[in-house]
Amino acid sequence: MKRIVIFASGSGSNAENLIKFFHNSDSATVIQVLTNNPHAKVLDRCKQLKVSALSFNRIALSKSEDVLNILRTSKPDLIVLAGFLWKFPELILKEFTNKVINIHPALLPNYGGKGMYGMHVHEAVVKNKETETGITIHYVNENYDEGAVIFQAKCDVLPTDSADDVAKKIHLLEMEHFPLIVDKLLK
Ligand code: GAR
Repeated sequence: MKRIVIFASGSGSNAENLIKFFHNSDSATVIQVLTNNPHAKVLDRCKQLKVSALSFNRIALSKSEDVLNILRTSKPDLIVLAGFLWKFPELILKEFTNKVINIHPALLPNYGGKGMYGMHVHEAVVKNKETETGITIHYVNENYDEGAVIFQAKCDVLPTDSADDVAKKIHLLEMEHFPLIVDKLLK
């Protein structure tokens, strides 16, 4: 059985979708969720879904080996950043080379980089009158949103779409594709 560890910072709808998808899998399972936010909704979702979850602070993640040691113990085959908003530390990337992926709610390299997350992305897309946007699943490297692209899916942006409308379309793309891509990577 392949082992997945998820990092999330907020609501955790992608984390929940991945957990549920792999509940029905005989090849992979989500063994743990880690969050930087002790108040994140993702922790409630994990409780409901009976998945182990822990929160940590910046010292544990980047200034010590505490989170790295958790990962050394849980031995993930894949680390999935699903709405994780802190920079992912090099000390973990070094030890889990090509085993860390992220989902981004835009067509990278557009609308990536520091500060470009969640609704900020969709607001910028609408403001710039883009006619399409989408999702990018990519490997994580030491720079925000710059690792090799694994998968992209697109959707139209209509002139009448609000940022909320775009967010709904992106959410649907994420729910549809993310588990399938994770599954494919692990096979
Ligand atoms: C998702 O749309 C994900 O693509 C985005 O945050 C949302 C998290 O939602 N990630 C980024 O913006 C990363 N730069 P969720 O907590 O409900 O899964």
